[in-house]
Amino acid sequence: MTRKITLIKGDGIGPEVVSATCRVLEAAGLEFDWDEQVAGGKAFESGIDSGVPEVTIASIKDTKVALKGPLATPIGYGQRSANVTLRGLFETYANIRPAIQLPNVKSFFQEEALDLVVVRENVEDLYTGIEYMQTKDVALTLKLVSRKGCEDIVRAAFEYARSAGRKKIHCATKANIMKKTEGLLKSTFEEIASEYSDIETDHILIDNCAHQMAINPKQFDVILCSNMNGDIISDLSSGLVGGLGVAPACNLGREYAIFEAVHGTAPDIAGQDLANPSSMILTAVMMCRHLGYFREADAIEQALKVTLASGCLTGDLTPSDKAVTTSVFTDTLISNLGRTMPEYVERAYQPFVMPKLQSRLATSTDLATVNGVDIYVESNVSLDDLVQSMRSLSEVVDLDLHGIYNRGTKVYPADISLTEYIHHWQCRFSPKSGLSSISDDDIREVLRAIESVEKLSWMHIEKILDV
Ligand code: NAI
Repeated sequence: MTRKITLIKGDGIGPEVVSATCRVLEAAGLEFDWDEQVAGGKAFESGIDSGVPEVTIASIKDTKVALKGPLATPIGYGQRSANVTLRGLFETYANIRPAIQLPNVKSFFQEEALDLVVVRENVEDLYTGIEYMQTKDVALTLKLVSRKGCEDIVRAAFEYARSAGRKKIHCATKANIMKKTEGLLKSTFEEIASEYSDIETDHILIDNCAHQMAINPKQFDVILCSNMNGDIISDLSSGLVGGLGVAPACNLGREYAIFEAVHGTAPDIAGQDLANPSSMILTAVMMCRHLGYFREADAIEQALKVTLASGCLTGDLTPSDKAVTTSVFTDTLISNLGRTMPEYVERAYQPFVMPKLQSRLATSTDLATVNGVDIYVESNVSLDDLVQSMRSLSEVVDLDLHGIYNRGTKVYPADISLTEYIHHWQCRFSPKSGLSSISDDDIREVLRAIESVEKLSWMHIEKILDV
């Protein structure tokens, strides 16, 4: 039976590179039953806030696999990205982006062919979209990282490494600064690593990882990151092998898989038959391997390399007077199917099944005990006046004023603070001495007390488990 796959051509150059890719797949002997749907620009224009119509969601639910071109996202205003919506909806928590040197694609590392993969957590972290204006002048976002999310992505990285014959994983985090969120990824990685003794492991700080990628990227095989760090590092890795036009990607979940090129809609060249379809074609190659069509995947990847090596290059890879069009590139690739490049042998890929969460790192079922509370207040009074107000109100409730912070710096008690204050204060309370926890009633009481003070307004509270 022909495999049904949801096809989203996308915006800008999307239709051009996706159509080219479908032609290549067909020429390689793969016949898919494409269920064509829309998302992104066209959906936003028709008033669908999420950028993903119900019928598209239903299609992916049915097919479990989507091949998707780039989608336009409004920047800095309006709706959430349709890509982020899709990743969250289908819990495609692992974003896998190989960066592999291709022939004739110029990069700083041409002599030493690069071959690494970034595995990026894809649904949590700063991409949950939990973001607020807390005052008219202060925006705040939440970096949400769960033990489940960490375990999922760590296991996916190890399983992917095995399936692609890779030997070493670097877990790259910012755990020195974000000890809890990034620290949770690091500690989960270290705990699970013992189950994969065939894979070498190491931890590296993400800033050093970026530095090392610029000076000695050959040391990396697989790099595992949280969502935001992985977003940046994976674009860096694409840049190292010659740009977005040649870098593939997929978003994998336990049940669903969405395959998408890493580049955007390239509005500057859209509709002109100028786009490089390589990224989209290599993305489809990943999809073929996911579906078990290993032979066809290798054949397409080899033909692509033969094509590039012959000097058949689109305008992103060569001066425009020598460049070929998307159509000519695709025709040439198709005519090269069956040819191989022995110096670019494909890896011995094996089937990759997303790992089941083993829950060895049991998630706690007990409700947490709260022993601190941060109350964020907006106020334009002086720090001294604020301290006085907070101290006097803490006398009438069962809480002690533990400290006051402004833009993350402790300004009370503090010997010296050169912080330039904004009217947004984080007031931290702890239990009165002799008490070990804070109840919801305590919090309600302190909020009511704050409400009674003139020129103070609370806008956010955060319960704390370890003051
Ligand atoms: P972009 O990737 O569309 O373009 C950056 C530059 O790379 C442009 O000069 C473009 O011409 C060139 N380029 C990109 N892909 C190419 C290809 N296949 N062949 C030849 N040249 C190529 O990034 P930009 O301009 O930041 O974003 C444009 C739009 O795309 C935005 O709406 C953005 O939100 C969206 N976008 C969507 C993505 C997705 O759906 N996965 C990913 C990145 C951006």
